[in-house]
Amino acid sequence: MTPLERANQYQEEHRIAKEKKPVFHVTPPIGWMNDPNGFSIYQGKIHLFYQYHPYSDVWGPMHWGHCISDDFVNWKELPVALAPDQACDAAGCFSGSAAETVDGHALVYTGVKETTKEDGTKEVIQQQCLATGDGICYHKAKENPVISCEQLPEGFSREDFRDPKIWKEDDRYYLVAGNRDALGNGQVVLFTSENLKKWKYVSVLADNQGRYGSMWECPDFFALGEKHVLLVSPMDMQAEEDVFHNGNQSIALIGTYDREKSRLMEEQIVLLDAGTDFYATQTLQTQDGRRIMIAWMQSWDMLIQPPGQKWNGMMTIPRELELKEGVLYQNPVRELEKYRTDPVFCCNRKIAGTCAIPGVKGRVLDLTLEIVGGDFKHFTIQFAKDETHFTRVCYNRTREKIIFDRTYSGITRDVVCQRSMRIKKPLETLKLRLILDVFSAELFVNDGVQAMSSIFFTPPSAQDIVFSCDGTARVNLEKYRITLK
Ligand code: FRU
Repeated sequence: MTPLERANQYQEEHRIAKEKKPVFHVTPPIGWMNDPNGFSIYQGKIHLFYQYHPYSDVWGPMHWGHCISDDFVNWKELPVALAPDQACDAAGCFSGSAAETVDGHALVYTGVKETTKEDGTKEVIQQQCLATGDGICYHKAKENPVISCEQLPEGFSREDFRDPKIWKEDDRYYLVAGNRDALGNGQVVLFTSENLKKWKYVSVLADNQGRYGSMWECPDFFALGEKHVLLVSPMDMQAEEDVFHNGNQSIALIGTYDREKSRLMEEQIVLLDAGTDFYATQTLQTQDGRRIMIAWMQSWDMLIQPPGQKWNGMMTIPRELELKEGVLYQNPVRELEKYRTDPVFCCNRKIAGTCAIPGVKGRVLDLTLEIVGGDFKHFTIQFAKDETHFTRVCYNRTREKIIFDRTYSGITRDVVCQRSMRIKKPLETLKLRLILDVFSAELFVNDGVQAMSSIFFTPPSAQDIVFSCDGTARVNLEKYRITLK
């Protein structure tokens, strides 16, 4: 049996029942999942691949898992697409991306090769490889690797050269990948090709100059509004005031693309998500022109899945990105709205002390709360609540902060449970949109100016939602259950 056949057989025999998992967030059929890969549209369908190790609930030799959707919300699992089975990817098929081509669905990924030198030390190299398929079965190119590490300029790291993101522009393909310069600083290198098989090095598109973390992982580069945006996930970031608290963190560099120098002239850096679990973003562009971003909703440093749970890892809800007057907005894909059921609306309702609202409960929902007035200083929403558990979002009006807290979610590990963020551009009213899907909470603030995403593993029977404040507040509320038909 080939490694791919073995992985597929294992997936078929060990698949976890859907009822035990989130409803509309992508999770692995069995085992471990990290980064989203190959997020693309092929023959009209949305494809999502991911870093996958079916055999255990921890990271291991990387395969590519695969699923498909018509609308970013309802996903269908497909067979495993790639397994480490070639000389150039024997140590793993690391992250990469995909594009629709005349020859089929092209996947470009990082092949990791490990060799033991004569003196017994190990050498790792990372190079870019190609596989082409029909949307289900993929064949690796005989030319692999299509970008050898020897094509990098002198001094650039051969060991950290990964996560190619490809796109087509004016009949040429382009590829950005994460890399390190001679001093070990993170950078993004740009390559170009006519046929996906022969690539030419172009430039360093952007680099961290010692500012943002060390290695830069999972780059993605695209035009948005009037600007260009580079998404990147730096490792080892140092906290600054109330941002970059997660160590490994995803950021957006927004600026102008200097086409002559093939370099991004950055003007602004934005933290993409201030929750505990958000990393390794990737985007695609839909036929109607929307730029959709997805990320791995987990942290490398905090593995909190309950003992005995045989799947580990989930994706965020795909998010529409927009840049308006220099502000980057992210909001759940609009397709989610067609799965809304059981609406509850309240208008100008007074909240004083602690209260529940009839019909407002559950673990799979889309809730928007607009706080329009009142004399309170602190306002809290507790959810996934029963007698012993709750997770909460708190608004500190005086300090203009939002705090997420999963301390009482049932966590039994010594991990970070709180994250806070300062509200950007505070307004008279505060609008919070909370998306819950059994084991996750994604919060979008003021129409997507800021987001906070976190996971928690409270027993699904904890369904209550409670609002409280230390004075009075007036709120508008809109709540729906999300039901996949
Ligand atoms: C990011 C990452 C990538 C790499 C992959 C390996 O989370 O470290 O850089 O390709 O995970 O699974």
